Amino acid sequence: MTKPRILLIVGGGIAAYKSIELVRLLRKSGMTVRCVITRAGEQFVTPLTLAALSENKVYTNLFDLKDEVEMGHIQLSREADLVVVAPATADLLAKMAAGIADDLATTLLLATDKPVLAAPAMNVRMWLHPATQRNVATLRGDGVTVLDPDEGEMACGEYGPGRLPEPAAIFAAIESRLSNPLASSAVEAPPLPSRVSTSLDTNGSLDHQPDFAPENHRPLFGRRILITAGPTHEPIDPVRYIANRSSGKQGFAIAAAAAEAGAEVLLIAGPVPLPTPPGVIRVDVETAVEMAEEVRQGLPVDAAIMVAAVADWRAADTSAQKIKKDGSGAVPPLALAENPDILAGVARSPDRPPLLIGFAAETNDVIAHAEAKLAKKGCDWIVANDVAADPMGGESNRVHIVSKNGIDSWDRLPKAAVARKLMEKIADELDARSPRHSD
Ligand code: C5P
Repeated sequence: MTKPRILLIVGGGIAAYKSIELVRLLRKSGMTVRCVITRAGEQFVTPLTLAALSENKVYTNLFDLKDEVEMGHIQLSREADLVVVAPATADLLAKMAAGIADDLATTLLLATDKPVLAAPAMNVRMWLHPATQRNVATLRGDGVTVLDPDEGEMACGEYGPGRLPEPAAIFAAIESRLSNPLASSAVEAPPLPSRVSTSLDTNGSLDHQPDFAPENHRPLFGRRILITAGPTHEPIDPVRYIANRSSGKQGFAIAAAAAEAGAEVLLIAGPVPLPTPPGVIRVDVETAVEMAEEVRQGLPVDAAIMVAAVADWRAADTSAQKIKKDGSGAVPPLALAENPDILAGVARSPDRPPLLIGFAAETNDVIAHAEAKLAKKGCDWIVANDVAADPMGGESNRVHIVSKNGIDSWDRLPKAAVARKLMEKIADELDARSPRHSD
C-alpha cells in the first residue's frame, strides 16, 4: 500500500517551529510530505529547514513561473491525500472561510479537492473572537477538520485556549483523518479528557473575558493554583443523593480572580450550574471520593484553596435500583460511611502545596472553630465565614483569615471582591516564600 501524501501549509506565528517536529513525525511514519510556507511563516521557519526534513522542494511563491510549468498549483493541491494547515493563523482561517486566494497557500486551499485539516494557533482573544469562532464554524460546516487549540500559557504571556496542539496530537489527528476519509469536522483532536472543560464550552463570547494586564500587573503569573468548589452529591440510589446548600459562587469567583491575576487555574467543581470562568481549566465531579482523586491528580501546585463544601458522609451502600416503599410504613435503613477529608489528606501528602488554604462555614463561634480547624486540618490559613448571618448561596461574604500569625477580619464584601482581595494576599505570601519563575 502506498504511504499517504501530505501537503503541509505552514502559516505564520511563533508556533510555526512546531511544524518542524510535525514533518519529522510524518516522515518517520513513512508519509510523503510537501511543504508550502506562507510569507509570514518564513519569518519563523526557513524553507531550507523544511526542505531538509521533508526531503522535498518547499513552495513559497504563487508566481514562481518555473513551477507553474513543472507543477501548477492545481496539481500541487490535488496530488496529496490530505492538506494540513499547521499552524493555522486567525488570518488563514478567515481567508479559508471566505474563499480568498491571494497567495500560494490560500490558492491551494481553494483549489484542492482533498480533505483539509487545520491546527489553529493564535492569541487567546483572537481565538475567542466571534469572527474567528464564526470562521471555524463555517469551515467545520464545509467539512474542514479544525482541531481545538490547546489551552495553556501562550508566548505572549496570556493564558487560555489558542496554543498549537502538540505535534504528536496533530499527527494522531492526521492519522485518524486519513483512516476515516468520510469524517470531517467530527474528528476533533486533541481532546481534553471529557471531564475537563474550559470557558469556551459554556461561554464562547468575550463578555466575561478578563482584562489581561501586562505580566507585572498579574501578581500570580507563573503560579499554578488548584481550587475546589461547590457541594458534592453522594448517591443513595439512582434517583436520590445526599447534598448541601453550597452554591459554588465563592469558589468560582476565586477561580475567576486567580485566572485574572495570571495564575494557571485548575478548578475541581462539584455539581453546580455555573459557567466556567475564562481562562480556567475545570474538572467536574459529583462525589467526595471523585473530588479527592482529581485533587490528587492535580498536584503539585503552588497553592490549593479548598472552598468546596464536601459532604462529610456518603451512603455506605448505594442501591443499583431505586429503593421502593413497601407499603408497610417501614423506613429503609440508611447507613453512612465517612468521606475522605480532602484538605487534611493534601496537608499530609508529599505533594503538599507551599500554601494550603481551607474554608470554614460556621454558624457559631466562628473564630474559635476556625482556629481549631487550622490545627486539625494542617493547613496554613482558614478562611472562616459566618453562615448564620448569611446562609450559603448569597452574593456577599464576611470573612476572617485565620493563620498562625493571627486573624485578618475583612468587611462584608461581594464574593468577587473577597476573591480578588484573597488573590492579593496569596500573591504576597507566595512571593515572600519563593520568587516567581518569571522574575
Ligand atoms: O471540616 P469542615 O467541613 O468544616 O472543613 C472545611 C474545609 O475542609 C473546607 O476547606 C473544605 O473544602 C475542606 N474539606 C475537605 N474534605 C472534606 C471536608 C472538608 O477538603 N471531606
